[in-house]
Amino acid sequence: MESVQVERFYLGCLAHASYVVGSECVAAVIDPQRDVDIYLEAAAQKGWKIEHIIETHVHADFVSGHRELAERTGARIYLGEGSGAEFPHVAVKDGDELNFGNCHLKFLQTPGHTVESICILMNDASQPDRRGILFTGDTLFVGDVGRPDLSGTYTPQQLAAILYQSLHEKVLRLPDETQIYPAHGAGSLCGRQMSSESSSTIGKQKQTNYALMAKSSEEFVHLLTDNLSTAPEYFAQEVDLNRKGAAPISQLPAPAALSAPEVLRLQQEGTVVVDTRPASEFAAAHVPGSIHIALTGQYASWAARILGLNTKLIIVGEDADHVRESQLRLARVGLESISGYLAAGVAGWVRSGYELESIPQITAPDLAELRKQEPESVTVLDVREEAELSGGAIEGAIRIPLGKLMNRTSELDPTKLTVVHCKGGYRSSIATSILRRGGFRDIANLMGGFDAWKAAGLPVSLSAPQS
Ligand SMILES: [Fe+2]
Repeated sequence: MESVQVERFYLGCLAHASYVVGSECVAAVIDPQRDVDIYLEAAAQKGWKIEHIIETHVHADFVSGHRELAERTGARIYLGEGSGAEFPHVAVKDGDELNFGNCHLKFLQTPGHTVESICILMNDASQPDRRGILFTGDTLFVGDVGRPDLSGTYTPQQLAAILYQSLHEKVLRLPDETQIYPAHGAGSLCGRQMSSESSSTIGKQKQTNYALMAKSSEEFVHLLTDNLSTAPEYFAQEVDLNRKGAAPISQLPAPAALSAPEVLRLQQEGTVVVDTRPASEFAAAHVPGSIHIALTGQYASWAARILGLNTKLIIVGEDADHVRESQLRLARVGLESISGYLAAGVAGWVRSGYELESIPQITAPDLAELRKQEPESVTVLDVREEAELSGGAIEGAIRIPLGKLMNRTSELDPTKLTVVHCKGGYRSSIATSILRRGGFRDIANLMGGFDAWKAAGLPVSLSAPQS
């Protein structure tokens, strides 16, 4: 008998994992990303027909491709009861099963991250001695559990208590050797402390996952909800979109090439220019007023968090491929209002006779020296998350996490030099562009971030910065 095959697809930009499970010419796709060709290609290669699409929950942080994939394959979509999905689907309950070839799938209702969350236990009939695989969605991650604050009906405390029950009465009762395959990895906004490992076992998680160490439901609720950062604003809109089902990505129009004068006019009317080039290029020269989000990091998540889903955008990229890649990544989070891209990039801007701006860079030793000489004239702005502070901070820094900076620039003194840092430089570059747009003239980026500060042997404070 042929064994069941599982393929994992990982999108670093969104820290999102999806899976294709195939056996005997049939396949199921779990938590598909918006652009679904990758699953169709994988299935065609293996000779599988995609007959089932399973969503572990209605996602809040990315747009699912369930509707397009169902339209192109004729597959059925499965979701946990109470999802509110508006498209034809099978609402599964605890204990429901789905079998094809040697693949046996059993659904577990595991509310907590969301009310309709499910886990899927897979067993392979061709390997009866092997322990099962549990597709955990956002119920249990490697090193964390799903955030419990995405419901309009339940409080985070109520959902956390429900999640505790789901974990302890269902998930953790499975054999310790059961493998877990979650829907997200490190850096996802659906949890806080996810490991970069792609899978684990129930047994290992019992020993190492901080959330599973809680001795009681009360302790678990505190662990999950005390100091929980607010969920990004676009999450609610994303849930609505996923309940309806997004339009096929191929229907999005190609972004138009815009001349510099057209870009300037649209910018004056409120369209936001997003510069997607590497941080060093943005710092050296960019279109005034543009927001920098480099395509190299978690581009789409940051774009959605900072700009929301309804902002009209113009892309500045290195070349046409770069612009197309930007559009695809933005569509994966539901940011679709792209007016076009700056033809010929910043060079085209200069040729039209317009000015460029730059962001000064400062090294860690130079910043330390400057603070010694003129302590009153410099603000150090730390844009990292709270969870990153255990390794220390720069003494006297003000901390505003990047996701909140747009609404909190008024807490900073624009008459001082503001030097921004994050861990390594990706987020601080975004922050410098937000500050500049907000009217801060005297700013600088700490090169290499806090990592460079520490590497230079400069003093580190273990007390949390003012925030
Ligand atoms: Fe989620």
